[in-house]
Amino acid sequence: MTLRPEERRTVAEPARQGTSVSPYGLSRSTGRTETAALGHFTLETGVRLSELIVAYRHDGPAPEVAPQVLVVHALTGSADAAGDWWSPMIGPGRALDTDTVGVLCTNLLGGRYGTTGPTSIDPHLGRPYGSVFPHVTTRDQARVIWRLADALGIERFALVTGGSLGGMVALEVAVQRPEAVRHLLPMAAPAALGPMAIAWNHIQATLIDRLGVEGMEIARQLAMTTYRSEKDFEERFARIQQADGRFEVVSYLDHQGRKLADRFDPDTYRILAGAMDRHDIGRDRGGIEAALSRLAAGGVVLTAVGIEDDILYGPRQVKSLVAAAVTAGVRTRYTEITSTKGHDAFLVEWDQLRTIVEEALTS
Ligand code: COA
Repeated sequence: MTLRPEERRTVAEPARQGTSVSPYGLSRSTGRTETAALGHFTLETGVRLSELIVAYRHDGPAPEVAPQVLVVHALTGSADAAGDWWSPMIGPGRALDTDTVGVLCTNLLGGRYGTTGPTSIDPHLGRPYGSVFPHVTTRDQARVIWRLADALGIERFALVTGGSLGGMVALEVAVQRPEAVRHLLPMAAPAALGPMAIAWNHIQATLIDRLGVEGMEIARQLAMTTYRSEKDFEERFARIQQADGRFEVVSYLDHQGRKLADRFDPDTYRILAGAMDRHDIGRDRGGIEAALSRLAAGGVVLTAVGIEDDILYGPRQVKSLVAAAVTAGVRTRYTEITSTKGHDAFLVEWDQLRTIVEEALTS
């Protein structure tokens, strides 16, 4: 891997492995999910969370000796990118090579897997927040990531990446501190959520409001049809029927719905989908171009990734982000994942993802 001159010392000196401790006493380089208590936190709406807990996983060398990478999860993900949903990408010898770079992933604010969210205990009431958990935004989520990065002693990210909601939060992370991000790599993510996605989210939220967990199961089924493509379903399921007469595609959707119901929480789903609805990097910043001009001023390099046949946040939306970035003076590149998988390609097309991530790390 070729690194920029200021990052080369980390290759010359073997990266320090093994657990290290940040100036704030937080564990780094542990390769497992940790929890940080970061005090109170005021949301964009002005609502104050009296106790912010963040679940995170940090792999590879500490920030004092190696460049750092931030990976942000999508709607139902966790901090465990390296051990779970992006594991083919992270580890020794992989695209995010934890022999030479540190990799941080956090569970997003409002999430289900250890960070403060609807399933956390409200310290005032002594029971889970549930449906009264306040609305959060992708800006809040990005601010929480920076709060954690500060506490871990990470001053700068060589690369910030994520897909879908993760890409939206990645954009916010960079817009908030452009001087602290070298390369921004959002995948299948728009600068602002479009009306079609808001419409799909609305139907899913209504299902959850009316039917609770069962509604979330159906919401997941609907969402899965937006995460895949017509080609994918044609190739995999066609009109095949099972012995019981059910179409294979129906059985697949039932399975996916049940699987999410077993591991997720309806209030969390609502909060995270709501964060996507409110996502607009241009809000109160003078518009999308003005927000992106911060990236230009900070010297951030942007590679925006579109996915062929993504009907959720497809190439048209990503190219619109790219056009605004170019106008704003950002050093920008567009690249596209060729896939029949649709939106989910950022979770399955490992060969192409490796190439894209390796290029972003070194350019
Ligand atoms: N009937 C019942 N189940 C079926 C089936 C059928 N006809 N065909 C496949 N399945 C099951 C498989 O048994 C497997 O089950 P398991 O996960 O419990 O082991 C599962 O479906 C495989 O799912 P599939 O979509 O085929 O896997 P993939 O490798 O193509 O994609 C994921 C993996 C993780 C990306 C995908 O499953 C997923 O969860 N997508 C949603 C990701 C997401 O949340 N995106 C958010 C964007 S905001």
